[in-house]
Amino acid sequence: MKHLLKMLDLSTEEILDILNLADQLKYELKHNIPHPHLKGKTLGMIFQKSSTRTRVSFETGMYQLGGYPLFLSSNDLQIGRGEPVQDTARVLSRYLDGIMIRTFEQAEVEALAEYGSIPIINGLTDFCHPCQILADLMTIREFKGQFEGLKMCFIGDGNNMANSLIVGCLKVGMKVAVACPEGYHPDKQVLDFAAGYGDMFELTDSPLKAAENCDVIFTDVWASMGQEGEAEKRKIAFKGYQVNDEIMAAAKPDAMVQHCLPAHREEEITEKVFEAHAKEIFEEAENRLHAQKAVMVKLMG
Ligand code: CP
Ligand code: NVA
Repeated sequence: MKHLLKMLDLSTEEILDILNLADQLKYELKHNIPHPHLKGKTLGMIFQKSSTRTRVSFETGMYQLGGYPLFLSSNDLQIGRGEPVQDTARVLSRYLDGIMIRTFEQAEVEALAEYGSIPIINGLTDFCHPCQILADLMTIREFKGQFEGLKMCFIGDGNNMANSLIVGCLKVGMKVAVACPEGYHPDKQVLDFAAGYGDMFELTDSPLKAAENCDVIFTDVWASMGQEGEAEKRKIAFKGYQVNDEIMAAAKPDAMVQHCLPAHREEEITEKVFEAHAKEIFEEAENRLHAQKAVMVKLMG
């Protein structure tokens, strides 16, 4: 594994290796056992979109590993004034040991990896959010003990979260059901991948059908970063795609709820369901730290 660009690139074994290391690093942190695997290394973090969790967890994680993180807002970089990503990649490769990038186009992340000579980590694009999904899988295993035999459902927009969750959950052996309205389906590349899993995967327009008998329920905002102008139109399109008591009643009684955050209460999830499952949701947020530290150690260690 040279980069973390998208879940589609990872083998099941690579995913499980990252999760095992993440569990170990979490244990070590909780028990004050130092783990300076990246002593003397630097990570550049390029942000073309806002972030709370990704920025703070990467920055803190790099510090805990003995390395040094550089926060690079694209507003202040020449990339924000049009310097090509190919040139940025070749320059930054000469200073840094790794780059995390959050941007719009997946092609930009792939170009960084192609032209640079250091590991590239995708911190979210319009296409996918692999760091988040690794933390999600870590959380599911923590609460449920295993992946085999579990069913997850995703309700809402077929966005970057849906794209990555479908791939990640199928790869570790979970059943996946996705409920999206017409016109907001996951990416074709992801649906083609999922088609190879036969009846382990289901795409429907019925949230209740997707939630039936499931162990883990995921949702995400109806309008992602960059889609703010479509927010009103999307509120209409996604009416009925809310994780609420009715959805919870269709799921297994001990079903857990996951949300990558930030959450919009009373839109994609009710306040009641959110607060009833806050324990799992904030553990998921914490696990960003541990999962990403594992990714950095694997790629840069
Ligand atoms: N879930 C997530 O990526 O959060 P941020 O946008 O705050 O980084
Ligand atoms: N789908 C959301 C995820 C935020 C972490 C977005 O892209 O804005």
